Amino acid sequence: MTKQQPVIAILGGSGALGSGLAWRWAAAGLPVVIGSRTQQKAQTAVADISAQHGVTLHSGLDNKAAAQAGDILVLTVPFSHQADLLNEIKEFAQGKIFIDVTVPLVPPKVARVHLVKEGAAALITQKILGENVNVVSAFQNVAAANLQTKGPVDCDVLVTGDDPKARQQVVELAELAGMQAYHAGPLDNAVVAEALTSVLIHINKRYKGHAGIRISGLGLETK
Ligand SMILES: NC(=O)c1ccc[n+]([C@@H]2O[C@H](COP(=O)([O-])OP(=O)(O)OC[C@H]3O[C@@H](n4cnc5c(N)ncnc54)[C@H](OP(=O)(O)O)[C@@H]3O)[C@@H](O)[C@H]2O)c1
Repeated sequence: MTKQQPVIAILGGSGALGSGLAWRWAAAGLPVVIGSRTQQKAQTAVADISAQHGVTLHSGLDNKAAAQAGDILVLTVPFSHQADLLNEIKEFAQGKIFIDVTVPLVPPKVARVHLVKEGAAALITQKILGENVNVVSAFQNVAAANLQTKGPVDCDVLVTGDDPKARQQVVELAELAGMQAYHAGPLDNAVVAEALTSVLIHINKRYKGHAGIRISGLGLETK
């Protein structure tokens, strides 16, 4: 990260995964904006996250204003709302890194892999936002519950995207949030991380926990 820290705007940041990423990045010293459908809900989320984790967030704004304010945008809403929100904020994402966390789950069968016809939810994001946006996919395999407690997160992060520099920035952001992250190839590969989430949900139901993934064999896992 450079000295001038980028503003991270989390669209849908009032939710389970977004709020977990928000406090961890804020704790690492990054300016974090929470986006929500209403500014009031965003501000309530900012107050709740600050009180719970003892961090200071930059601000709480409606999603459009948050997208405008952010240098790096993060999408953390359910798949069913992905396209609508992207169309709403598209103009404010141009030229930016856009981190997509979306898993294309289809309730109620969320423990069953659902493949979208576009190939991956992240590819839908790229299609909607256009080629001037650096879409990077990450964090699909991290259970929100595992972000709420302090310390390193017991799950690795697969980072996919077509621009290696943008990917590297997201790898560094994941590390700042307490996760070991790996370059996992072009955005086409996002389908694997997205699909793996349904497998993890199945494991969680069967074994009653918050399973994650670990990449082995590189010597990084003991860090
Ligand atoms: N939860 C996990 O453990 C986990 C793990 C890995 C990946 N993911 C993925 O991360 C994404 C977010 O998951 P989550 O569990 O954090 O979701 P969530 O808590 O159910 O929802 C996140 C936020 O989405 C917003 N939202 C709800 N309905 C909306 C709508 N109609 N239009 C726009 N925004 C709407 C809400 O924000 P406002 O009401 O403030 O607008 C809500 O706080 C999903 O794609 C999920 O598959 C989740």
